[in-house]
Formats: sequence, structure tokens, C-alpha cells
Amino acid sequence: MCGIVGYAGKTKAIPKIMTGLKSLEYRGYDSSGIAYVKDKKVKTIKKSGPINNLDEHLSYDEDTTIGISHTRWATHGRADDINSHPHHQGKITLVHNGIIENYDVLKRKLIEEGYHFISETDTEVAAAVIDSLYKESNNMVETLSKASEALKGSYALAILNSDNLDTIYALRKDSPLIVGLGNGENILASDIPAIAHVTTKYVVLDNYDIVVLNKDKVTFYNKAKEEITKNPRIFSLADETISKNGFDHFMLKEINEESDVVKKLLSLHTENNHIKDIYDITKYQRIDIVACGSASFAGQIGKYYIEKFKNIPVSVHFASEYRYQKNFFNKDTLVILISQSGETADTLAALKIAKENGSDTLAIVNRHDSSIAREADHVLYIEAGIEIAVATTKAYLAQVILLLFLAIKGIREEKKIIEDLKLLPNLITKYINEFDYTKIAKMFVNKDHVFYLGRGIDFFLSMEGSLKLKEISYIHSEAFQAGELKHGSISLIDEDFGVIAVVTDKNISDKTISNLKEVSARGAKIVAITNIEDDNFSDAKIMVDDISDVINPLTVIVPMQMLAYTVANLKKCDIDKPRNLAKSVTVE
Ligand code: F6R
Repeated sequence: MCGIVGYAGKTKAIPKIMTGLKSLEYRGYDSSGIAYVKDKKVKTIKKSGPINNLDEHLSYDEDTTIGISHTRWATHGRADDINSHPHHQGKITLVHNGIIENYDVLKRKLIEEGYHFISETDTEVAAAVIDSLYKESNNMVETLSKASEALKGSYALAILNSDNLDTIYALRKDSPLIVGLGNGENILASDIPAIAHVTTKYVVLDNYDIVVLNKDKVTFYNKAKEEITKNPRIFSLADETISKNGFDHFMLKEINEESDVVKKLLSLHTENNHIKDIYDITKYQRIDIVACGSASFAGQIGKYYIEKFKNIPVSVHFASEYRYQKNFFNKDTLVILISQSGETADTLAALKIAKENGSDTLAIVNRHDSSIAREADHVLYIEAGIEIAVATTKAYLAQVILLLFLAIKGIREEKKIIEDLKLLPNLITKYINEFDYTKIAKMFVNKDHVFYLGRGIDFFLSMEGSLKLKEISYIHSEAFQAGELKHGSISLIDEDFGVIAVVTDKNISDKTISNLKEVSARGAKIVAITNIEDDNFSDAKIMVDDISDVINPLTVIVPMQMLAYTVANLKKCDIDKPRNLAKSVTVE
């Protein structure tokens, strides 16, 4: 979601800013903009559409050494030039990531004060709030401390003030913002890849931190306006460098990395075919798994494993619902939050609620230093490396594997399961390279609707397969419990309907096959992703291996991802950046 880059240095600022901003494209956006200082004036350019639209209006040779910039994912107001950031009010020009929840009330008050608004955004209101508060003290630290009282919601703000044009100010609450500390140049941004061309030394901001940044110095203040010391960290350039490594798409590259991700998790968490030290979940009587999208579907597989091996009841919740429903928090309930980005607003909010209500929290996250990682009581990193494609692949598989590790620690079958899991990296390579996905994908390119069918664990896998297909190929797809179909939804089935069946669980496959027969009797062609060799229930098949009840669910993940990828590729979709989507969903 929205990306921020602010830079102050000795050299030309626009190339530095734009390199950073382009590295944030993966987060998802629909317009972009920049404000830089030239001849003691703030010049703002903003354009809807891809960053190239902005680029065309910029001179990289422009004589400017300081500026702020933004990629916007529209929330309040359409994705047009006017609503794009930066926004300007009085002496203040700013960019914003997050949502100002009380913008309407504030706006009415500010209109009474004489402010005029030209955009539909909450951000322009934030600019006016800050300008109005600044008039009271002429001091930006004081102003931003007061602004953090006035503004409700979430915000990462990078601000220019026309009274002091060699400085960028910043303020953060519940939206990510880091500060890169360079040599004669400093930079702030939403994520590490955007500062990597300037420095590897960075500071992660906490809620309500105030930043005063110029080319020589960065000073940090807390909400009480006291200067504070922040401990800088160093990131590894190799881990944060964004490259497709010769693949056509980041998604394909990331699918190809899955085999190494499994190997890495095995080496980090196992020794002599046993799980090393890992968070002990046996002391809890109940577990809530809370996440969004694919991460919640990973949670469903985790539920299957934890209930099976640990006999602890697990319920899985979408974070956006969990926050507003009745929950039963207590010391005996563990709340597991799963998130690739570690910044998903709903998941972060659910974490806070669980903590406030006395439950222990365990985060399973990919991004180090992310808000969820920092706020949870305990963290398990999935160590999948940076994931750029909006559709998650390697992070989802890694989440499932860590949940498996939590579930099997200390059980009788632990050794056998790990031995079997060691087969997975080679299987993944085989599934990527030895199957003709194009042939199967052609059966779906012209479909408008697809059902992904399965029972039990196969249904939970289908949820992920279906999401992957719909989000990148724009084909309407639903996961359905195969046995539930005839209670209404089978009326949709005709020869034009696409059906993909996931059939790996031998304990229930006979029942699933009967349901598939009912579907083909109504004219639909069925593609099965299955480990059943002699089937008479599908029209085409992606054959996976039959390893064990525990490993079999993991075998279908890569074929489902490859199938979705190939369909989207045949349809020439923007695979890495599907329309309307953002990689890091930092608003609720
Ligand atoms: C789908 C996908 C999303 C994310 C969801 C949660 O391919 O990537 O459904 O899984 O937005 O994001 P994180 O894991 O960053 O909290």
C-alpha cells in the first residue's frame, strides 16, 4: 500500500528519491507524486497511473537536494491527479500512508477556520491540521506532538514546512516508517528496499516518534517532545536487493525459491530430524489463529496440524472480523498472528486487542522489524526472504511449515515427519519443471467462473488455490467444500463452468470423488490436482506424490501456484501487480 520516500542530501535529490519510490512499486499503488525544494520554493508534481507518468514530468538533473514523494493506493477519493499526494495547506506540504479516521470532523472545524480543500482526501485534512497547529507555536516538534493527539487513525507522514526548507519532518503511528542514516545524506521510507541505494544503516520508528531530518543530521523526539536516542540497525544488501534474477515475473522467481525456503526452515529449526527449540504451545488450552487472506488460509492448515497432533482446539479468524467479534481471551488462550509483511493493519489491531485482554501472542512473520514482529510477545520468523509479487507464494508455504513445526514438536512421529519433509524441496523443483501447466491452463483462460473443490484439508488448500487464481487472472473463482455443493451452488454448474479438484486426503477421497461425479454429470470438465493414480473422475490431472498424510497437503501448493501463474500469464495479466491490490495492506 502507499509508499513514502523522503530524502535530504548534498547531491541531486530526484534520482535518489525516484530510485527509492520505484522500489516501493511492489506495495501496490494507483498514482504517485513528489514535492521538492527548488529556489527556496516547494514544487509539487503528481500524476495518476504508473510511476512512469510522473517520471515523464521530472528532470533528473533538477537542482534540488531535498524532497518527499509518495505512491498512493486510493482510499478517500478517486485515483486522480488531485487526490494524489503530496498535499499542501499553508506552510505545510506532506505525504501520508494510513487513514485519518476523524478527518470529517476535523475538516468541518478547519473549514470554519477558513481552510479550503481541493481534494477528497483525509490527507489534505492532516496537512491543514498541522498547518493550523504550527501557527500556534511556530515549532514543528511541538506541532507534531499536538498533531498526534488531534489525528485519530493510522499515519506515517513525511512533511516539508516552507519556513525551514532544508528539513523533512516525520511522524508515525501504526503505519511503517524507517529512517536511513547515510553519509551527508539521510532518507526516510516505508520499507528497506527504498533506502538500500543510500545506506544499510537504519532506524525503525516507534509509534508517536517525531523525526527532524536534514542532510547532516537526524534528531528523534518522543510525544513528550523529549529528544530520544534510537539504536540504528544494519540490513544485508543481499537480502533486500530486488531483482527478478532472469525470471519473467517476481511471482515465478518466488515460486522457484520455495525449495530453498523449505531447506532453510529445516536447517534453522531441525537437528537430527527433531525440532530444535521452538515456542511451546502445549501449555495453552485454546489457540486463536488470526490473519488475513492467504495468511489465514495458511492458518487453516496449521489448525489441521495442531488439532491433529497437539489435541488443542484451534479457531482461525480473519483479522478484520476478529477485532469486532466476541472473543474469549484469557491466559490459557494463545493468539497466533500470521503475516508476511508484518504490517497488515487488521492483524496488527487484532494483536493489540489480544495483548490488552491478557492473552499471549505469537507472531509468525516474514519482515524483520515489522510492527507485528515488534509488538508481539513472541516471534517466529518465516525467513522466506523479501517477497515482491503481490500474490504470496513462498511466504504462504513457509507459514504452513512453521505451523507444522509448532504442531509436531515433541510428538512420537516427529522424526518420521521431518524425514518426509526433507523430500519436499526436490518435489517442488520437480513440480515446477516437469509438468506442462500450459496445457491445463488453456482449459481455464476463457472461463468466467471456477470452483476449487475439496473436502477437509483439501478444501482449506483449495481456498488458497482459488484466491491465487482469482487475484492474478481476474477469473471469478470460489473454493467450495465438495460435499456442500449440492445444497444449492451446484445449480451454477454447466459445461462452461471451470472446476479444479484437490484430492490428496485418502481418508475422504471416495466421498470427494462422488461429488466430482455429480459435477461432471452436469457437463463441467474437471482438472484434478491429486495423488490418486488411477482416477476416473477428472478430465485432466496434475499428479503429485503420495508421501504421507502430513506431507501430502504440502505437495499441492506449488502446482496450485504454477497453475494460477500460467493462466494469468496466458491472459497477459499484470501478474506481479494485479489491479486494485497492494502487497502490504496498511489500512483497515
Ligand atoms: C494473497 C495475499 C494476501 C495476503 C494478505 C495478508 O496472495 O498475498 O491475501 O496474504 O493480504 O498479508 P500479510 O501476510 O502481509 O499480513
